[in-house]
Amino acid sequence: MPLTDHGIPSVSWEEFLRRFRWEQGEHVSFIGPTGSGKTTLAKQLLHRRDYVCALATKARDKTMDGLIRQGGYKRIRAWDERPPMVRRSQRIVLWPRFRRPEDVANQQYQLDRAMREMFVSGGWCLFADELYYLCHTLKLTKLLETYWTQGRSMGLSLVGGTQRPAHVPLFAYDQATHLFFWRDNDETNLRRVAGLGGMSAKEIRAAVTTLPKWHALYVNTRDGELMIVKAPRG
Ligand SMILES: Nc1ncnc2c1ncn2[C@@H]1O[C@H](COP(=O)(O)OP(=O)(O)OP(=O)(O)O)[C@@H](O)[C@H]1O
Ligand SMILES: [Mg+2]
Repeated sequence: MPLTDHGIPSVSWEEFLRRFRWEQGEHVSFIGPTGSGKTTLAKQLLHRRDYVCALATKARDKTMDGLIRQGGYKRIRAWDERPPMVRRSQRIVLWPRFRRPEDVANQQYQLDRAMREMFVSGGWCLFADELYYLCHTLKLTKLLETYWTQGRSMGLSLVGGTQRPAHVPLFAYDQATHLFFWRDNDETNLRRVAGLGGMSAKEIRAAVTTLPKWHALYVNTRDGELMIVKAPRG
């Protein structure tokens, strides 16, 4: 297996998938600047879970369109429109109506409600691709924090992405078992990344600042495993 200058193995996507053990209830976080490849990689992990709900927050969103067209996801606008839980798996894009700016209130109401219901049922994997928007615009920070801190025991996995690591709760880092970082030279971001317990700050910092395009540093916070990987284009 080729090692990088920092001694971190660089693995193929296939090899990564073989080594990537993601139990239900473990959270995954994606951190990197815009366009770095977060959504592309995240989407390719979701098939590992049986009950997935993607939270769509934009008026138009190619990722969500793709999940609906090719990924077998069903679009619903409100939690009570979901199909009955009779199958062994369920893939949903929860996409509240968003046509006018004032529809933010509707988004907030629908996502808040759905997240509370999913919490009670347990077993869901939530795909929250835009943590910053959910936290700051929709004011769902407290609810997301409950997922991060209490979700594990309910078998709830939060798969969250952000471009602004300094502006999302620390829980996105320290409550996630699986972390992916893309190249970033922002000092505040680096300090957060390098401050993660149990890992060599120097090693992580050196790796994150020199990652090639589309490549992510994977960190398993439970066992300290590090890998560098590039997802297929998708
Ligand atoms: N592994 C990859 N190999 C080749 N191209 C890629 C790869 N990952 C992403 N891309 C390209 O980069 C574009 C942006 O990727 P993506 O939408 O995943 O980034 P992002 O980090 O989610 O961005 P944003 O923060 O703006 O949501 C994609 O449309 C794709 O063309
Ligand atoms: Mg994205």
